[in-house]
Amino acid sequence: MKYNYKILFAIGTVFFSAVNMHSQDKKTKEILSQLTLEEKAMLVVGTGMKVNENSVNGAVGATVGKVNGAAGTSSPIERLNLPPIITADGPAGLRIDAIRKNDQKRYYCTAFPVGTLLASSWDTALVEKVGKAMGSEVKAYGVDILLAPGMNIQRNPLGGRNFEYYSEDPIVTGLIGAAMVNGLQSNGIGTSVKHFAVNSQETFRTGVNSVISERALREIYLKGFEIAVQKSKPWTVMSSYNKINGEYASESADLLTGILRDEWGYKGIVMTDWFGGRNTIEQVKAGNDLLMPGTESKKKAIIQAVGDKTLDIKDLDRNVENILSLLFKTPSYKNAKYDNNPDLTGNAQISRNAAAEGMVLLRNKNVLPFNKTQKIALFGNNSYDIISGGTGSGEVNKAYVVNLDQGLLNAGLLLDKTFADKYRTYMETAKKAVPVRTSLLETPKPIALMSISAGDIENLAAENDVAVITIGRNGGESHDRNIDLDFNLIKEEKELLNAVSTAFHKVNKKVVVVLNIDGVVEVASWRDSVDAILLAWQPGLEGGNAIADVLSGKINPSGKLAITFPVNYSDVPSAKTFPGLSTEKRPEKALYSEGIYVGYRYYDSFKVNPAYEFGYGLSYTTFRYDKIKVNSKEVKDKLTVSVEITNTGNKSGKEAVQVYVTAPDGKLKKPLKELKAFDKTKLLSPGAKQTLSFTINVSDLASFDTDESSWITDAGLYTISIASSSKDVKKTITFNIPKEILTKKLSHKLPLKEDLEELK
Ligand code: BGC
Repeated sequence: MKYNYKILFAIGTVFFSAVNMHSQDKKTKEILSQLTLEEKAMLVVGTGMKVNENSVNGAVGATVGKVNGAAGTSSPIERLNLPPIITADGPAGLRIDAIRKNDQKRYYCTAFPVGTLLASSWDTALVEKVGKAMGSEVKAYGVDILLAPGMNIQRNPLGGRNFEYYSEDPIVTGLIGAAMVNGLQSNGIGTSVKHFAVNSQETFRTGVNSVISERALREIYLKGFEIAVQKSKPWTVMSSYNKINGEYASESADLLTGILRDEWGYKGIVMTDWFGGRNTIEQVKAGNDLLMPGTESKKKAIIQAVGDKTLDIKDLDRNVENILSLLFKTPSYKNAKYDNNPDLTGNAQISRNAAAEGMVLLRNKNVLPFNKTQKIALFGNNSYDIISGGTGSGEVNKAYVVNLDQGLLNAGLLLDKTFADKYRTYMETAKKAVPVRTSLLETPKPIALMSISAGDIENLAAENDVAVITIGRNGGESHDRNIDLDFNLIKEEKELLNAVSTAFHKVNKKVVVVLNIDGVVEVASWRDSVDAILLAWQPGLEGGNAIADVLSGKINPSGKLAITFPVNYSDVPSAKTFPGLSTEKRPEKALYSEGIYVGYRYYDSFKVNPAYEFGYGLSYTTFRYDKIKVNSKEVKDKLTVSVEITNTGNKSGKEAVQVYVTAPDGKLKKPLKELKAFDKTKLLSPGAKQTLSFTINVSDLASFDTDESSWITDAGLYTISIASSSKDVKKTITFNIPKEILTKKLSHKLPLKEDLEELK
């Protein structure tokens, strides 16, 4: 008899996972039945934030458990052999203390590139690989849940945590986020996608009310989370601090149960952001399973509320069951071995490669890549002090950072050593004078630029072949960026750019700017005075090597912008409403008046020219787009579109290809076009071709009709644009949807409670 082994295997897998699920449920119920009310309250509240006994620098974090500098743990119940679940930050690598008392060993982690850089790679396979490497460190250090990735929308270039987030676009956010979660969780550890939801600013993040239409909420701010939940099943979701239409996210049953669980089928747990929300009982009822990092008063409130029947024990039991199901999956529960010995050398290489793959070449007038005979005068403080990542909970305690001077030398490029030495000495002295930070949430003040006389710059121009100037921006959790100090270049930076460009251009030598930044900066006023701009974002611990890989041409840049660079700050659609109704420190509300017109959806539809558009990025080679095909001209459920990409230049390279769709206006007006899919070619050698194909479901084409609480795909003629950027459309093709399709009927969730004048 012949067996179809594949089918037998599939049946077996389904059978065993069903049996496993059943016994898991049984175990959960059994333990639940043994728990006292007090223990139940303990399980849904973390152990608090205390100073670690073994920490040398008094870092706060988890005292229960084994990992110094972890962000917090759930409460153990020793009587029933339930260990604590250990959680630690954050998106750019694992954050734990590197140094422990009476211990010579160092517990360093790899600082990977920040989220924005990873998204700029447009490469989900690469991001999954980064996640896998990052997760291997989580596992090796005995942590159960990494508090990452950050998946809020980059609504405005001043968003203080934009660097932790991926994009202004929900599809990029969702697909890159899912890849990260899949990579991390492949290690048998969990993630916490955060901060759910509409937490796109830091100003008064713990109380601001994001006033937003249901349509913008669904189409822009929730979409990325929805994609990640469905494509990667994160073990946990972190609710955000802010309110949405008057309700704290962590107390919103609409958000945490109605949308997340009932509509999206989410099965994991929800935890609060640290000390988030106001009303403990509302949090429990809403389905916020774990209150982190936890306080005694929260436990007491829960016990009392069950006692006086203001909290139904069923709500508490449901949350406890969710936490038990999570606990049973964790390495801590399984008593998994961990050796405190991750492969830091291998992971540094993954970090370096990812950094180079996500950098974006914004401008290149016949200067890059460098050759090894060109002597470089290296300007800018951050050339000698690369900002590897932002500040706050996302900071990583790494063993080193490779600066650009070192990176250029490592790549075999020629550097003006005397000038570099002068800069290094200046930076070493200046860094010593920087006051010690009193809090993780403080971003160090930038060091004043080294002043160089006009005469010295002229001499440097005479003695060198090319100038490289690094401009840096740091930033982080708890504060938003500033227009004058962060978005715009400061006077001294402009003077430096101007002086160097004038002197070098006078003797026919070129100038390259490297942007080592946490968020978008103004470029339009100065870009024409320089010959090339490489956007290096915050590239992680191997930053200098990764930048040198691109400048030297070892890696051909293939990153593209996942966020628009506007000409002026005033062009930003939320410029007038960010970060709130007034410029006070604690704005009561933030009106999301631009609605769905965030990023390129706005610039495109309202014909506002950006400095560099969403999706833009140059390469050292060129590509041709041919043979666009769609599998059917009449579409009922899904369509497949394909395109052939040929490398027409003379260097090997990769191309990130974007698929936008222009939908017919039905009852709702739509953005001029919206990204629906993307992919990146493999490394194509000169002349090589690759066909990429993309599948789009009709539900991906739907818009959210608030009146009907429904996702609706309009009937009519659609145009697919296959593009190299949101403005550089290479080929178009049309298809027809014969009849309007109601793709999902829902009920109102988080409705507006006040009038909101929306951009139309
Ligand atoms: C941040 C979270 C972080 C948590 C734990 C909060 O302040 O908003 O992103 O995971 O702290 O450190």
